Amino acid sequence: MISEITNTMNNLRAYFFKSALLMAIIVCIVGISCTGIQKADLSEPGLKDHFSDVFLIGNALNGTQVFGRDSLALDFTAKHFNSIVAENAMKWGEIHPQPDTFDFTLADSLVAFGMRNDMFIVGHCLVWHSQTPRWVFEDSLGKPLTRDALLQRMKDHIFTVVGRYKGKVKGWDVVNEALEEDGQMRKSRWFAIIGEDYIQKAFEFAREADPDAELYYNDYNIELKDKREGAVKIIKSLQEKGIKVDAVGIQGHWHLDSPSLDVIDESIAEYAALGYKVMITELDVNVLPEPNIVGADIAQHGSYDEKLNPYAESFPDSMQQVLAKRYEDLFRIFVKNDSSITRVTFWGLHDGYSWKNNWPVLGRTNHCLLFDRNYQAKPAYDAVLKTVPIQTETK
Ligand code: G3I
Repeated sequence: MISEITNTMNNLRAYFFKSALLMAIIVCIVGISCTGIQKADLSEPGLKDHFSDVFLIGNALNGTQVFGRDSLALDFTAKHFNSIVAENAMKWGEIHPQPDTFDFTLADSLVAFGMRNDMFIVGHCLVWHSQTPRWVFEDSLGKPLTRDALLQRMKDHIFTVVGRYKGKVKGWDVVNEALEEDGQMRKSRWFAIIGEDYIQKAFEFAREADPDAELYYNDYNIELKDKREGAVKIIKSLQEKGIKVDAVGIQGHWHLDSPSLDVIDESIAEYAALGYKVMITELDVNVLPEPNIVGADIAQHGSYDEKLNPYAESFPDSMQQVLAKRYEDLFRIFVKNDSSITRVTFWGLHDGYSWKNNWPVLGRTNHCLLFDRNYQAKPAYDAVLKTVPIQTETK
């Protein structure tokens, strides 16, 4: 009798499990078809494959993607990109929030994903004026640290973070955005307490922590004359002191009509002439009208106005074509300079993830990347593929 009850229970358990599984599959199929979001078709070549002989194609990942809350993100990333960077997870405020507390959870998961997929993993960023907690610059009484004390704190941080990912993270944005728009040094607390050589020290510590990693100076608008002069001054002075900077990261937070293609082309050539690799490290093309804000300094903000958010409902085909032409023009410049450019990284998997939806104005709908909010390729994607160099017959 008991064995019959057990049998019945087991049969019931199996029935309910199968029904639940079937229901889950139906929900998943309905869910995807309703939202139009398609699972990445891994059989087709991705963006990275088209440019495999030209330069790395990267993207920035966040926790929603890395922890699988967006179940499509990682397959999509593996299909289209062979380089990844943490959008925020390795910034001081996220990875080292308190003096004796590190949170490596997201960074470890991102690095593990990159290692599983044989990706070029970039660390962003070690020394930055933004997203660095105020305790970093203060003693236990809230007074500014001395130069030596802050240098020791910088060294400990760099040794801990770079050391943890030694051999896995292949390149580091060692110093991020050290310049003002006029090309002068940003008067950050790093600069105020340590002095101008904080940049040199950051590179020395990073080099010591991982002699094999590439080390970058990363900034926005360093394609423009004044900031370009400032960046050249920084990397030349490091070069003269024997401090190796492997590449310059031009962030590439650009617009439909600026900066000019010539300015971008000239800046790449100038950095290359100094012997530096160039990377486009945070590419997006803003399609929305901007309040009067210059650059990409996250500290600036504009107030919301309907007029500043014209494509909240949809992005018209006429504008898709304008964006496509801009991306095609940009990639033609990159391909032309492929002997100096080693990586082009986009700053967001698709339009819905872009920081440009909320900066410099909160709550807008931008359309600044190659893929839409349903992971669908936009005309800009096809336009970029048109720039892929035609394979010349190997001699
Ligand atoms: O993690 C906290 C979360 O705990 C909190 O609930 C939430 C609400 O306050 O904030 C979350 O932190 C936010 C973080 O993104 C993660 O989402 C910060 O407030 C927000 O300021 C931060 O914005 C990032 C910004 O850098 C500042 O760090 C953007 O996502 C990121 O795209 C942007 O990227 C920068 C590059 O690092 C450097 N170059 C410029 C580029 C654009 O500003």
